[in-house]
Amino acid sequence: MMMNLQKDCDHILVSEEEIAQIVSDLGKRITADYKDSKRPLLLVCILKGSVVFMADLMRAIDLPMQIDFMKVSSYGNGTVSGGHLNIILDLKREDLSKTDVLVVEDIVDSGRTLSYLKPYLLSKGAADVKCVTLLDKPSRRTADFTPDYTGKVIPDEFVVGYGLDYAEQYRNLPFVGVLKREIYST
Ligand code: PRP
Repeated sequence: MMMNLQKDCDHILVSEEEIAQIVSDLGKRITADYKDSKRPLLLVCILKGSVVFMADLMRAIDLPMQIDFMKVSSYGNGTVSGGHLNIILDLKREDLSKTDVLVVEDIVDSGRTLSYLKPYLLSKGAADVKCVTLLDKPSRRTADFTPDYTGKVIPDEFVVGYGLDYAEQYRNLPFVGVLKREIYST
């Protein structure tokens, strides 16, 4: 199955089985950490890459919650380090006061997205803002940001699948794979 897309991957980095285990473990940790909070929990999915992880993770958290979506993009395709970030889609609510916000990311790379979003969400009145990421590439970090929950630390390789894209493709692969170099260097 998925052979049409899988053939473009050099190898699988995080298998479906490993992802399921990671999601289950993160769900249990988050449930335990938030279960005594008196505040409402809001999961914020950062589109588009996080949509697959969000869908699985929210069902692994055994707590009342609401969900919302944001989309952030950087000027110049994100290649300009220190460049400006734009909010393309904002939360459908103004007041986050007394809310625990948990930002859901597929990957933290430079850390610029989250180091921008966290103060933004706090400025909207959130009582607490934490971040859960499926993947972390700390070797690429330029901004000072550490996720609160990390599924797996990965090396600096071109990964696709489980929400992550190359040229908007491969998001529907059920695993995280390393894209063959010939696909993106031609
Ligand atoms: C990716 C990812 C994070 C961000 C992380 O999104 O989903 O939101 O980049 O990078 P950073 O740590 O360097 O800021 P992307 O901009 O590729 O958009 P997409 O999710 O819509 O593909």
